[in-house]
Amino acid sequence: MSLRGKTIVVTGACSGIGAETARLLRQQGAQVIGVDRNDPMLTLDGFVKADLSEQAAIDAAAKQLPARIDALANIAGVPGTSPASLVARVNYLGPRHLSEVLVERMPAGGSIVNISSILGYFYALRLDLHKALAETGGFEAGLAWLARHPVPQATCYEYFKEALIVWSMQRSHAWFMERGVRMNCVAPGPVFTPILGEFVAQLGPARVEADAKRMKRPAFADEVAPVVAFLCGDASRWISGANVPVDGGFAATYL
Ligand SMILES: NC(=O)c1ccc[n+]([C@@H]2O[C@H](COP(=O)([O-])OP(=O)(O)OC[C@H]3O[C@@H](n4cnc5c(N)ncnc54)[C@H](O)[C@@H]3O)[C@@H](O)[C@H]2O)c1
Repeated sequence: MSLRGKTIVVTGACSGIGAETARLLRQQGAQVIGVDRNDPMLTLDGFVKADLSEQAAIDAAAKQLPARIDALANIAGVPGTSPASLVARVNYLGPRHLSEVLVERMPAGGSIVNISSILGYFYALRLDLHKALAETGGFEAGLAWLARHPVPQATCYEYFKEALIVWSMQRSHAWFMERGVRMNCVAPGPVFTPILGEFVAQLGPARVEADAKRMKRPAFADEVAPVVAFLCGDASRWISGANVPVDGGFAATYL
């Protein structure tokens, strides 16, 4: 699979899944522009340092990004041990806003990939809430809606990954029909990255022990990156509105 000639923006490019994805996309010939709050420790074709929890910072970063973008991988994220308001901003409102801004620069055939999670699996249980949040236009309107519908700290990670899946599915339809731009999610199970320990703290020892019996092991980031790369490229041109599990079969045990 070749991504030669494509310009791809990767958020969260400085660590874990984002760094592995950026590396792989470059190996496949893409020009990769990273966006992260931290400095990169890998070779990129461009980098914009930005705090993706703030609308103004996202808008300022967008001004520094290329005028034509073929794909956007929204990979930056924080675990549920972070304050719920930050989880809302980084894991949902930020990628939503960046996508809304950058889709304007994407030609037909463009692709957006959002990293959800196996912890978003039960999105249908809160579908009405997620649809109502998805209908809010823009970062500030989303924050105002969340002030009226507060999300408990204990479940904020699950909530905003669910919300990301629902927004991605809904928004992808209009974008594919009107612009020919696809949008999909990739839902990893546990992955060996620097924040895996935070997920263990978030879920607690009993849940982690029970989950461990249902899977072989956590993934390595280089087992997730190829799926993101596939969804960025033309080989996946008829896939849109999907939430693709990359979890070694873990989600299948929820049936
Ligand atoms: N590791 C797992 O077990 C796992 C499982 C499922 C989903 N995920 C998701 O995968 C994505 C990548 O996580 P990871 O495991 O590679 O973690 P990571 O901590 O290795 O990487 C996250 C990156 O996001 C960046 N980031 C965080 N907040 C930011 C902000 N406000 N502005 C700009 N950049 C910011 C960090 O600097 C870091 O480079 C996240 O969305 C996470 O929720 C991870």
